[in-house]
Amino acid sequence: MKLTSKFPALMLTSESVEKARPTDEQNRCLLESVELEREVLGTDGVLVRVVYSALNYKDALAASGNTGVVRKYPLIPGIDAVGKVVEPGSSAFEFGEIVLIANAKFGTSHHGGFASFARVPEDWLIRLPAGLSLEQAAAWGTAGFTAAQSVQQLLNHGVTPELGEILVTGATGGVGVFAVQLLAKLGFSVTASTGKLDRYEQLLSLGAAKVVPREQVVDLSDAPLLKSRWAGVVDCVGGLTLNSAIRATHVGGCVTACGLVAGHELGLTVYPFILRGITLCGIDSANVSREYRQQLWDKIASDWSLDVRNVSTEIELHQLPQQIEQILNGSVFGRIIVRMPE
Ligand SMILES: NC(=O)c1ccc[n+]([C@@H]2O[C@H](COP(=O)([O-])OP(=O)(O)OC[C@H]3O[C@@H](n4cnc5c(N)ncnc54)[C@H](OP(=O)(O)O)[C@@H]3O)[C@@H](O)[C@H]2O)c1
Repeated sequence: MKLTSKFPALMLTSESVEKARPTDEQNRCLLESVELEREVLGTDGVLVRVVYSALNYKDALAASGNTGVVRKYPLIPGIDAVGKVVEPGSSAFEFGEIVLIANAKFGTSHHGGFASFARVPEDWLIRLPAGLSLEQAAAWGTAGFTAAQSVQQLLNHGVTPELGEILVTGATGGVGVFAVQLLAKLGFSVTASTGKLDRYEQLLSLGAAKVVPREQVVDLSDAPLLKSRWAGVVDCVGGLTLNSAIRATHVGGCVTACGLVAGHELGLTVYPFILRGITLCGIDSANVSREYRQQLWDKIASDWSLDVRNVSTEIELHQLPQQIEQILNGSVFGRIIVRMPE
């Protein structure tokens, strides 16, 4: 079967990128709604009808002309996609199989998920585990997977609920809401730090034992070590927050780092590592093996399953530009999932 009709997508064009300047609010959102011929996706690989995509911070960077994320235009962004196989080609997948797409190139150098169709190499596809709906998988998406990876690293490094409090920073963000819920489900006492004073109740209802203003976990002194507060940390924001968290972690504790919304510099001494034996674990969700990815998704669908309804909001494709502005301002709660047009 050859599909030739047009499909809706949001595309980044080089014309609008050239116009963009970081300070130019008018040209900041560079996505354009377009009707594309399916030939744009090429003919190699498996064709997936995208049912849901989701908005990640990285997509917002791509949509604001960040050349560290997207180097070549035009491009359909969207690093997450869940859908049905419609042209399996010679792959091991069958027509109608439900899959999610995950690869570092998807939505950054290869057309991504903000479109009704995606065509990708077979090894970028993960079969959706039983027990997870398409909608739930989109809600977890890259952000939820990153939270799961972070929690897994704490467990791998021997952090247990008996050892003390776990700090989750950027707690109302996509990664944060999943980290809070998952850690609470596993019996940890979670301190959630947030800049959103109006979201305390929601964080408590997700399982946080305590919610604190984000300023309370940042120490501006240059003390190499701080009073130890955390058995473990899931840091989603970087910068001085991560710096302070590392200095305030107990002997033998573990800190995971996945994000940079508060800054990309770290500026630390070696003392937390050589006097407290702290482990700093970098989290890179894009470059994990397919086997590891499938295993973690299987866990997400079973032992680690969560109720995602309170942490996800469904929108349509045309509403994405507004949400991109919001995620860049740090004002989104949880996950934005995008239902694709039929
Ligand atoms: N390494 C990886 O593989 C990987 C994967 C996914 C995401 N990430 C990165 O992880 C980070 C979080 O992702 P996300 O999906 O959770 O993003 P998100 O939904 O935009 O959430 C980020 C949260 O950080 C907090 N925040 C925003 N600006 C801040 C600032 N200036 N200082 C302190 N806190 C601030 C806000 O939460 P509060 O208002 O609650 O404080 C915001 O909701 C991003 O940098 C993203 O690129 C990395």
